[in-house]
Amino acid sequence: ATSANAQAAAFKFAPIGIATDHDIHVPEGYQWKTLVRWGDALFSEANGAYDAENGVSADMSDKVFGENTDGMELFEVDGKQLIAVNSEYVNPKINLPADAEGTPRSADEVTLLKNLQGVTVMEVADNGNGYEVVIDSPYNRRITHDTPMTMDGPVAGTDLVKTNADPAGMSPVGTMNNCGSGKTLWGTYLTCEENFNGYFGATGAEPVGAGYTRYGIGGEGRYAYEKFDARFDLTAEPNEPHRHGWITEIDPADPTSTPVKHSALGRFKHENAEMVQAADGRVVVYMGDDERGEFIYKYVSNGIYTDGGSTEGLLSDGQLYVAKFNDDQTGEWLALTPETTGMSAEEILVFARMAGSAVGATTMDRPEWVACNPLKVEAYCALTNNKNRGVKPNAGGDDTPAVGPNPRETNNYGQIVRWTPANEDHGSTEFTWDLYVMAGNPTVYDNAYAGSDNVNAGNMFNSPDGMAFDSEGMLWIQTDGDDSNEGEFEGQGNNQMLVGNPETGEIARFMTVPNGAEVTGLCWSADRKVAFVGVQHPGGSWPDNTGKPRSAVVAVWRKDGATVG
Ligand code: FEO
Ligand code: CA
Ligand code: CA
Ligand code: CA
Repeated sequence: ATSANAQAAAFKFAPIGIATDHDIHVPEGYQWKTLVRWGDALFSEANGAYDAENGVSADMSDKVFGENTDGMELFEVDGKQLIAVNSEYVNPKINLPADAEGTPRSADEVTLLKNLQGVTVMEVADNGNGYEVVIDSPYNRRITHDTPMTMDGPVAGTDLVKTNADPAGMSPVGTMNNCGSGKTLWGTYLTCEENFNGYFGATGAEPVGAGYTRYGIGGEGRYAYEKFDARFDLTAEPNEPHRHGWITEIDPADPTSTPVKHSALGRFKHENAEMVQAADGRVVVYMGDDERGEFIYKYVSNGIYTDGGSTEGLLSDGQLYVAKFNDDQTGEWLALTPETTGMSAEEILVFARMAGSAVGATTMDRPEWVACNPLKVEAYCALTNNKNRGVKPNAGGDDTPAVGPNPRETNNYGQIVRWTPANEDHGSTEFTWDLYVMAGNPTVYDNAYAGSDNVNAGNMFNSPDGMAFDSEGMLWIQTDGDDSNEGEFEGQGNNQMLVGNPETGEIARFMTVPNGAEVTGLCWSADRKVAFVGVQHPGGSWPDNTGKPRSAVVAVWRKDGATVG
């Protein structure tokens, strides 16, 4: 274990200590400010729409920044900088009038909740002070649970996705529980639909079958949508949930474009989508399925991408694989095909979890973000934690033994697995793996729960989740864990963002967020002088110091104008 001081030499910032307050902390010489909060106007007609006591009204709810910011990417379009950013979910208690007690009572109240989730595209501009949102920019756009979309790939138009409203099965509506993100090689945004299952409920008889239970679909919807919108009623529309849980592509450069759900990439509780290229130019997308005992997937296109060339078919025609990690630190990508799974081509994609089980994929400790090193052919996945090994949250799932990259029985801390594809080729079906870091608490434990050698009292954390590499090849790690600072977590403080050196293994704390919040979503300004960081579900009344807590994107920069990191 190295000391925090020794680490300081390896990073271009002085690592900071933990915090337990309701504020943000960054290293000496850095500064931060709030860029945009839940309820802030994207269009001038919504100026002042947010009220500290009542939040936002339904009629303004698709003209403001949504709640619970998550995955985020920056795009340069015609000399402008655009950020596309997810709003994963809403807290109905603080969005709805107090007397609703957290459950919508009308179609209007459902619309309010639908509109404050989904995706925001917004132009940002450098005002010399950490950027600001360009209100009324022609690029500004909200994409919600009611936005018309299309679907491509093998599932589009098949019986599994036909509904009363869309008998052709080609025009799904809305993108939901948008968690992590991705950026294509051609400059579009990938939004990743995670816990979509919770939005559906049955007003009468429930559809039955392994395809529902494995994905946790059934019972009552978390927001009572089904009572006011038949699309979310499992009794009326049993195929509607098959139209969600996909990777959806949005072109931020064209505010009139129709988002596309790419069925070829499989349906599960998507965390993020990390796109790289195989040695031969094929497109590779790594994806985690964030639930205890689920899998890591890889999609490989059949066609190749060349700079500025056609993107036709690159995300609709390809092969989906699932990862098998062996105890000897080798691994393989198992192709999901009718031959290997005994399922039809469309069933493999709609019920990817079951296809993964059929081929013997390795159950993981909740795969969150995957990030690939831009300077080296290797990939990292945050396995956030597994507090309940052996209990299957997803009926029909596999046993979850403590094996391979998931070595600890009760795993409250999480770990980051790294794999190196054979032949330095992301297109290869074989790899070797190791654990980049096993989080832990060396002040409480002196066994495996102390964590790996690169964890010490000065940099410890739990529950790695968001991850991104910067252009210099440093790995940024965001946490979504227990911030009680008590017991097993004593000395770890609030959730935090750290920077890891992939070569030396050193890890240093860069930022802490308000108690109650997780850190999720990270991108940089085009000149890399400003980092944009998401603060989700803060506690207290951050950042206004009065009224409701407001999730927000903050900008962080160096006072001397150098690049961040
Ligand atoms: Fe929405 Fe798995 O985090
Ligand atoms: Ca996450
Ligand atoms: Ca998480
Ligand atoms: Ca979250």
